[in-house]
Amino acid sequence: MSFLNNLEWRYATKKFDTSRKVSSENLDTILEAIRMTPTSFGLQPYHFYVVNRPDVMMKIQEASWNQPQVGTASHIIVMCARNDLMQTKDEYFDAMSWGKAEIRASLAGFEQMVTGFIPNSSPEWAKKQAYIAQGFALAACAELQIDSCPMEWFDPVAVGQILSLPENLSVAVIIPIGYRALDENPRSKVRFPKEKLFTFITE
Ligand SMILES: Cc1cc2nc3c(=O)[nH]c(=O)nc-3n(C[C@H](O)[C@H](O)[C@H](O)COP(=O)(O)O)c2cc1C
Repeated sequence: MSFLNNLEWRYATKKFDTSRKVSSENLDTILEAIRMTPTSFGLQPYHFYVVNRPDVMMKIQEASWNQPQVGTASHIIVMCARNDLMQTKDEYFDAMSWGKAEIRASLAGFEQMVTGFIPNSSPEWAKKQAYIAQGFALAACAELQIDSCPMEWFDPVAVGQILSLPENLSVAVIIPIGYRALDENPRSKVRFPKEKLFTFITE
């Protein structure tokens, strides 16, 4: 199927078939799509937890107003924003310069710009980057005919406690993934028409 057909096929799945699990190979592909996500400055101010322990998933479901897609999923990808942006920046420039001082020195102008930006960035900024990763993950799932549900209706503090998150992370969004339950009825797509969504300023 084409990319657009796959996007048409996917829907926010509310109940998964508990007998079907996502293979580690497919999971790796989804995680690689997340890894390839573009971010502002390329900083990647996030970290992801992949959960398939039933007891932990049920606790996350309880912290998500008991939405059944959480506990019935094959895996849950928990997308966390980092709040230690100076540390993130250091790790990023280390990676970009392969640990070599002369390469790092050649990046000084760029590093100074990023360093200047960080104190002015709101905590929401890193979360926005996680949402971009969410989009990439959903598209990758659709490509693999794996069902998914993007979610932000949960208690992020409670989910953070369930996962014993370190202080530098806070949960932005979660994505239960798996295979739709046989008695699930995909809701038909409701999308605004092109004329409402796009304004063309053309020659
Ligand atoms: C950021 C975000 C958060 C969402 N949170 C939830 C959620 O907590 N629970 C849920 O059932 N669906 C959630 N959805 C799914 C949307 O309701 C769904 O994507 C939308 O209605 C469009 O339907 P479709 O994805 O089936 O095409 C969320 C979607 C997005 C993008």
